[in-house]
Amino acid sequence: HLARGLATEAASSRMPPYPKIVRNLEQVRKVLGSERSLTLAEKILYSHLANPEESLLTGTNNGRDIRGQANLKLKPDRVAMQDASAQMALLQFMSCGLPSTAVPASIHCDHMIVGERGADTDLPASIKGNAEVFDFLESAAKRYGIEFWPPGAGIIHQSVLENYAAPGLMMLGTDSHTPNGGGLGAIAIGVGGADAVDALVDAPWELKAPKILGVRLEGQLSGWASPKDIILSLAGKLTVRGGTGFIIEYFGPGVETLSCTGMATCCNMGAEVGATTSLFPFSPNHVPYLEATHRGHVAKAVAEIAGSGPKNLLRADTEAQYDQVITINLSELEPHINGPFTPDLSVPLSKFADTVREKQWPETFGAGLIGSCTNSSYEDMTRAEHLVKQAEAAGLKPKADFFITPGSEQIRATLERDQTLNTFSEAGGVVLANACGPCIGQWTRTDETPKGEDNAIFTSYNRNFPGRNDGNRRTMNFLASPELVTALAYSGSTTFNPMTDSLTTPSGENFKFQPPQGSHLPSAGFEAGNPNFQPTAAIPDASVPVAVSPTSDRLALLEPFAPFPKGDLSGLQVLYKVKGQCTTDTISAAGPWLKYKGHLPNISANTLIGAVNAATGETNVAYDENGTQFGIPELAEQWKAKGLEWLVVAEDNYGEGSAREHAALQPRYLGGRVIVTKSFARIHETNLKKQGVVPLTFANREDYDRIEACDSVDTVGLYDTLQAGGQGEVQLRVTKRKTGETFMVPVNHTLSKDQSSFILAGSALNLLAAKANA
Ligand code: F3S
Repeated sequence: HLARGLATEAASSRMPPYPKIVRNLEQVRKVLGSERSLTLAEKILYSHLANPEESLLTGTNNGRDIRGQANLKLKPDRVAMQDASAQMALLQFMSCGLPSTAVPASIHCDHMIVGERGADTDLPASIKGNAEVFDFLESAAKRYGIEFWPPGAGIIHQSVLENYAAPGLMMLGTDSHTPNGGGLGAIAIGVGGADAVDALVDAPWELKAPKILGVRLEGQLSGWASPKDIILSLAGKLTVRGGTGFIIEYFGPGVETLSCTGMATCCNMGAEVGATTSLFPFSPNHVPYLEATHRGHVAKAVAEIAGSGPKNLLRADTEAQYDQVITINLSELEPHINGPFTPDLSVPLSKFADTVREKQWPETFGAGLIGSCTNSSYEDMTRAEHLVKQAEAAGLKPKADFFITPGSEQIRATLERDQTLNTFSEAGGVVLANACGPCIGQWTRTDETPKGEDNAIFTSYNRNFPGRNDGNRRTMNFLASPELVTALAYSGSTTFNPMTDSLTTPSGENFKFQPPQGSHLPSAGFEAGNPNFQPTAAIPDASVPVAVSPTSDRLALLEPFAPFPKGDLSGLQVLYKVKGQCTTDTISAAGPWLKYKGHLPNISANTLIGAVNAATGETNVAYDENGTQFGIPELAEQWKAKGLEWLVVAEDNYGEGSAREHAALQPRYLGGRVIVTKSFARIHETNLKKQGVVPLTFANREDYDRIEACDSVDTVGLYDTLQAGGQGEVQLRVTKRKTGETFMVPVNHTLSKDQSSFILAGSALNLLAAKANA
């Protein structure tokens, strides 16, 4: 009864502020002129501007060249945080001294839960092992009026889709797959904790206006093709960099053929092509999903503003122009498999067996894992169940280990009631906790795969960087739809094509899978599940003490960083020159390190440990001036102790992967002042500025080759540029350690006025705290 009461109260606070958003859209139309057509993403974004006139007209060609140019100052409607990133976000929020959050917010305990032996064993063990952190998060949530979803309640993006996302909403989430909410027509952007703090304290959140990539969907999916295959094939076309600076906006007649959760899958994995976010227009399929997830009131409100005409917030204008358009015919789409080691290596199923042989990838594989935030909808699971039932009837058992991760307690309880989980368990599948588990390295493999050897797994997840799932950098994670992973698990072979190949049953007969079938939504509605997995109320209570022990090795209150010196940076030394890909996992590894997320000094011991040394090809091997060898964080510590500040030199798309702000905080804590690269991933570049680290890119890419580890670097023009609010040119004066030769390297920057102020203050937080306490 109590849970139902809380649910009713929560439901009313989960209605997006539509009257305000629609009023703002009218204002935007006035500013831009009524003849100007807008894409859906533009409508939602611009109607969340703190001051449309300032953002849309300043510095642009009368509002015409906004995309890719204007600096948007946005006021999001809501913030969601997962347990690993929420720690640092809350520690930062606490430093600002406010009594409650300025916008509704939620915390979801999902990343810190192991997936290994099944939910019944793993969940209590994970709660016990992380009690200190969960207590901190819960106490802070209660104090500041944040909804707290306890461990076991579900994965952030699934819980957000089921409870908060709604057409026209704009939200930030401290996790890179936050765009999942775009499946329900929201602009949902993955950010670091420091950006979330902007929204939590009502400071405008800045974003360079993205360009809009239109993806026109035609036709209709059938047979083995699933929504996952839309994004897997799109990732192949766009590559991991192709979406950078863009919002992916789906449109076209194919949209209405997709389920709401299928659309969420497409948006979720838009993160893999570097897109700011992805979203779908309002679709009739949103209505039954909103109703089934107890948000009939939101569906009703949406119906009122989904009409045609200038007030329509929820679809692009008919004449809307996209910066680029890609067309996908769903009727011709083939299932795809992406990987290994990068999500954009996309191979159609019909060519996969040949590719495996040609590239000499392993022909057997150890585990198939379905679910996660990307693919654990009722539709996904019932389609997988349909295949399992066929195989079971033929007397077959999976040859590879088979794991199932439900995305939320609501999904889990519903699948349990409808016997789907039972079908998986009877087939030998292991149902893991409603949490991230193996997707984020919280997985100890129990199959026979020898450590350190090439081996394969298939997952329905979204990300497949080396070492991500089981900590073994030789494990090749091939990404596919849950139905394909399920069928493949029965063969145990990477060359099996369930559309054309047969398996042999125990009685020696040929068995061929029929194409999977499932249901978008459960006919008997969703089950709420365990009442202990409901969120706490969003009512701040100043009497609740926030639990941080001064002796903790997992949580530490933050010490402010020192302000920028009164002049250019001089005598910086190159700590490391990174070769090739450098993701946020490379800069701040996950897995066992997750437990130190709330303790900056302790987690800094993993800084850049995955980075490859450009001079020697070694990983995590750095050399001091006298040739002494260190791990990268150890050398950084040594230099910090000597008061020697440093920089890192790197190649393209530095910081790709996730919104992990630790990848910016840790270098800063250890004395890093500048990162100079060929290019940056957007979120990470912003995160660096927020922590007071200056991100610069080579004006001439070949200058990367001229700098080496331990060279000495001074900035020239940086201080003046910062003082001028980001206006000005910056160069680096490089002195070679070996020869003493000195030369200038021109560099580019993307510093805005506000970001320049952060860097001068030492960090964005220093500036926010000063304003809050003024
Ligand atoms: Fe969790 Fe993996 Fe998604 S870590 S939020 S399930 S990408």
